[in-house]
Amino acid sequence: MKEQLEAIRKSALESINSTEAGAELESLRVKYLGKKGELTAVLKQMGSLSAEMRPVMGQMANDVRAAVETAIEKQSAILQEKALEAKLEAETVDVTIPGKKLEIGHKHPMYTVLDEIKAIFIGLGFEILDGPEVELDDYNFTKLNTPEDHPAREWSDTFYLNENGKILLRTQTSNMQIRAMETRPLPIRMISPGRVYRKDEVDATHSPMFHQIEGMVIDKGITMGDLKGTLNAVIRQIYGENTVTRFRPHHFPFTEPSCEMDIQCHKCGGVGCPTCKGEGWIEVLGAGMVHPKVLRNCGIDPDVYSGFAFGMGLERLVLGRFKISDMRLVFENDVRFLNQF
Ligand code: PHE
Repeated sequence: MKEQLEAIRKSALESINSTEAGAELESLRVKYLGKKGELTAVLKQMGSLSAEMRPVMGQMANDVRAAVETAIEKQSAILQEKALEAKLEAETVDVTIPGKKLEIGHKHPMYTVLDEIKAIFIGLGFEILDGPEVELDDYNFTKLNTPEDHPAREWSDTFYLNENGKILLRTQTSNMQIRAMETRPLPIRMISPGRVYRKDEVDATHSPMFHQIEGMVIDKGITMGDLKGTLNAVIRQIYGENTVTRFRPHHFPFTEPSCEMDIQCHKCGGVGCPTCKGEGWIEVLGAGMVHPKVLRNCGIDPDVYSGFAFGMGLERLVLGRFKISDMRLVFENDVRFLNQF
């Protein structure tokens, strides 16, 4: 039995010390120390020993077990250390390799122009308001003096979000006239840029989603003169000091009187060319004096206060500025296109 134990000790220690992986070590532990292991098998023979030999062999078996356990622990620590070293080796970072270049983008042309326009209005003392694109018909139409039977409210023109036509995607930023008057202290000087939605087919000059910039001033004694003076000042900052403008009578339900503002074509100087479609003039915005009914709808006394409002399309300004002929390009967000501006 003594020889058996010696043999187990020798072969166990040899094989333990030459393991290279934790799993191998575990199967050796089972092989020697497990319930069906070699050492256990030897111990089972203890019954056949004499009373004197039993404690001696018992002691020796315990020594072998302790030696095997210690060897396993030591080897396990060595293997863990080796594994860590290998991992560190594999994950070494070469700090001398040049980094990956980060592509830095730039403002979308829409925002380049929008930010300029905001800056112009901020310079004139206007505040900038943000408003909802999902709107109640009350704010998009009714309070703007646009009654139930108005053609703009047709189901074929407006995206309604529920059956009764009460919730819709706003068709204009003019909803912000009402929201501003309901929430801001007087006097008001505000612009509100944002997306608007109409059931238009997509082509070079139409999109079911586009951007408007609404503006409104409400104070005591505001006249059509203020409207013209303000808009002339703004348009000259956008298109240049020598820009020639004209105001044509027009109709909007929420302004009275209403007008459209044109600029003389900057390409041909008014003679007529493809840019102005032979007209000599290019329409830039709709405007007018806020209708007394609209003021009253917002709890403002039209005998004390008056104001003007205007709405301009942002896309037209962007296409004109960057000489882009197709609006779709601006929305498609192809970087190869956008990189040019
Ligand atoms: N909301 C009008 C449009 O979409 C423009 C407008 C705004 C006209 C404000 C007058 C006053 O055409």
